[in-house]
Amino acid sequence: MAKTKNDLLPSEGGFGNEPLLAVDNLHVEFHTRAGVVKAVNGVSYSLSAGETLAVLGESGSGKSVTAQAIMGILDMPPAVIPKGEVRFRGTDLLRLSEDARTQVRGQRIAMIFQDALSSLNPVFTVGWQISEMFRVHRGMSKRDAMKKAVELMERVRIPAAKQRVNDYPHQFSGGMRQRIMIAMAIALDPEVLIADEPTTALDVTVQAQIMELLADLQRESNMGLILITHDLGVVADVADKIAVMYGGRIVENAPVHDIYKAPAHPYTKGLLESIPRVDLKGQELYAIKGLPPNLLDMPSGCAFNPRCPYRQDNCVTDVPPLHEISGVRSSACHYWREVLDGS
Ligand SMILES: Nc1ncnc2c1ncn2[C@@H]1O[C@H](COP(=O)(O)OP(=O)(O)OP(=O)(O)O)[C@@H](O)[C@H]1O
Ligand SMILES: [Mg+2]
Repeated sequence: MAKTKNDLLPSEGGFGNEPLLAVDNLHVEFHTRAGVVKAVNGVSYSLSAGETLAVLGESGSGKSVTAQAIMGILDMPPAVIPKGEVRFRGTDLLRLSEDARTQVRGQRIAMIFQDALSSLNPVFTVGWQISEMFRVHRGMSKRDAMKKAVELMERVRIPAAKQRVNDYPHQFSGGMRQRIMIAMAIALDPEVLIADEPTTALDVTVQAQIMELLADLQRESNMGLILITHDLGVVADVADKIAVMYGGRIVENAPVHDIYKAPAHPYTKGLLESIPRVDLKGQELYAIKGLPPNLLDMPSGCAFNPRCPYRQDNCVTDVPPLHEISGVRSSACHYWREVLDGS
């Protein structure tokens, strides 16, 4: 893959024991008229090549804002990043010049946006929109770029790609449009792909197909993949590990199998219990009581305490640190042992 050489850019190799991507103690605030919205409050996660990390959490938990900070697309102001690092191959992206950042954004770290289905331009053919990546970033001719667009459409398994390359977005189903967005995101062979809720607007069968496609593409290219979702059900088969977010913090970090076997945070436990199960037909679905925290005025102590069935006095006064349970697992709950035991 041809890459522009720039001393400031993260190199291909030589990053020692550093993971491909490491978010470290990231804080993001929005300074608004109503006050300071603390959207991300000390998030850390890491990703290796070929690994899939699912970032899970309900609406407003800071999943997208964290991704936008990684991509460097937050409007600053109103956003402020008072603390933290986003290291890509050992280089802190937050400290790169805008020029160097542009070399990384979309090319080495790409993102499928949450509102992807509506972000295709209705007046241009899909082929034109996909081929734009090659014209703009690789300086290809229209003809060569269009050939690459067809190849990419085939790669994301759009049937009859050659015939359909000149169709307009509205001529495709939701699932096919999402495949087109994926094609655009992987066009330049990124090392990291962030997919923000890539299946939310799709029906269940199509969701599974898109997940399978992302997993296949990742295997073929050894990308690191970050899958953002609020639905624990859709990532079970594809993720290696899960980071659960609540109120702008990571509350549980674990390999996917550990989480399914026994969650170590009451919030994760609630999320698991609210997944519909085919084997328990007719059972009432559990819903976590209460509302997400107000980010302008966070509860004292643990942000989850007003909704937590395990709450004790110290949960209201002391913010729980991320307790290390094993080398690959941690939980920000004072009572993680009880939760893990299921007691
Ligand atoms: N530009 C902004 N100004 C003020 N607040 C913002 C801004 N962008 C995001 N926020 C707030 O930051 C918080 C985190 O938002 P974020 O989009 O990361 O949530 P999310 O976890 O992705 O949720 P969802 O599942 O709904 O996509 C929310 O409370 C949101 O309202
Ligand atoms: Mg979001």
